[in-house]
Amino acid sequence: MNYVQAVEAPERNIGQIKIYDPAEAFAGMAAAGKIAAGCLDMLAKEAAEGVTTGRLDDLARQYVFDHGATPACVFYRGYRHTLCTSLNHVVCHGIPGDRVLRSGDILNMDVTVIVDGWHGDTSRMYAIGDVPRKAQRLMDITYEAMMRGIAAIKPGATVGDIGHAIQSFAEAERTSVVREFCGHGLGRVFHDAPNILHFGKPGQGEELKPGMMFTVEPMLNLGSPAVKVLNDGWTAVTKDKSLSSQYEHSVGVTEDGVQIFTLSPAGIDQPHKLAG
Ligand code: MF3
Ligand code: CO
Ligand code: CO
Repeated sequence: MNYVQAVEAPERNIGQIKIYDPAEAFAGMAAAGKIAAGCLDMLAKEAAEGVTTGRLDDLARQYVFDHGATPACVFYRGYRHTLCTSLNHVVCHGIPGDRVLRSGDILNMDVTVIVDGWHGDTSRMYAIGDVPRKAQRLMDITYEAMMRGIAAIKPGATVGDIGHAIQSFAEAERTSVVREFCGHGLGRVFHDAPNILHFGKPGQGEELKPGMMFTVEPMLNLGSPAVKVLNDGWTAVTKDKSLSSQYEHSVGVTEDGVQIFTLSPAGIDQPHKLAG
């Protein structure tokens, strides 16, 4: 795997890691990330008992357009929605619809927006009504695992260092790491090289360089890590129907560390901790 200057590369996944000029790219990524994160902030007030996931998707689409952005998932590989809404044992890519939220549900909402060609991709967990303690704990661990992965990011570190930070923490806390889905390069391309695995060994994999931009988006399960995709072609669920949880940030590698593009403007980075 080698590297290419993003300005000289075609605007698609060519299997090489794009190096962006931070002075040119990071402001655009921060603007896109802010709208994506603001959308998840807005949804924190709306995700409640009695509301359908389809209604939340409608609100998200409206928010994105009202802020001059485009929902990246609409028409992406045949997908039709602004959000993925992944409930309980759904690992990721849950499709919004007429499912009514009930007390005890845990919900991941994942949104990707495009602003001036830049992608902002982020997801958070939401607790509906009274959620069992084991589910709260899973969501706490997932957020902490993501942040530990992000904390490992700096020039000279590797993709394996990120995966190791996530996996070692998640497994020490008796949760399992989903293998089939990973983080990804992003910038002008939605799903780009490299793959950011959420498991791995220190020092292995591609070296991180300033100007790389990608997501960190671990999915952790209470039971086995095994997943399967339902017949709709999208919805990924745990094979053993155990609870699953995910958090996602979009980040860029700086000269001395990392910048998170999708921090919550309202300070609601962990909506699952809100009573409700
Ligand atoms: N936002 C998801 C990710 O984190 C991708 C969703 S693709 C879709 O990469 F088509 F399902 F929306
Ligand atoms: Co996402
Ligand atoms: Co992503």
